[in-house]
Amino acid sequence: MKSIMVINGPNLNMLGIREPGVYGPQSLEEINSLILEETSDLDVEIEFVQTNHEGEIIDEIQAAYYDVRDGIVINAGAYTHYSYAIRDAIASVKMPFVEVHLSDISAREPFRRVSVIEDVCVAQISGLGYKGYVRAIEVLAKGTEEENNG
Ligand code: DQA
Repeated sequence: MKSIMVINGPNLNMLGIREPGVYGPQSLEEINSLILEETSDLDVEIEFVQTNHEGEIIDEIQAAYYDVRDGIVINAGAYTHYSYAIRDAIASVKMPFVEVHLSDISAREPFRRVSVIEDVCVAQISGLGYKGYVRAIEVLAKGTEEENNG
């Protein structure tokens, strides 16, 4: 069984209230339940973490490394666009990351079209709503060692 961590960054605890036209109507809790339901056929154990703090995201990434997790799904929220510290944390550990965004960041404001973590993740999934997390877990569950460590 693979052990996967899903990290959600700043303001994602406000889902359901926050700009539902952009991010969808579900709360993060509802999304996490849907993820569990829709990945129940996969041989994975999933832990969910949400924090509004950059340093805590880094602490979680480092803890996941020492806990020998098999992969991380990360929606770093706005940190995606400028946090070299989170990028460095991802690059520091030999573990596959899949970057997820509920909205299609390539079709939004220019500052959102840039991801400073994209090239240290094995894939970027953007614009599929909560299904993006499901897809990301499938990638980590099914990907070969070689693909995911590349
Ligand atoms: C987001 C997109 C980011 O630009 C934004 O700052 C978020 C959410 C998304 O899931 O679409 O907080 O990562």
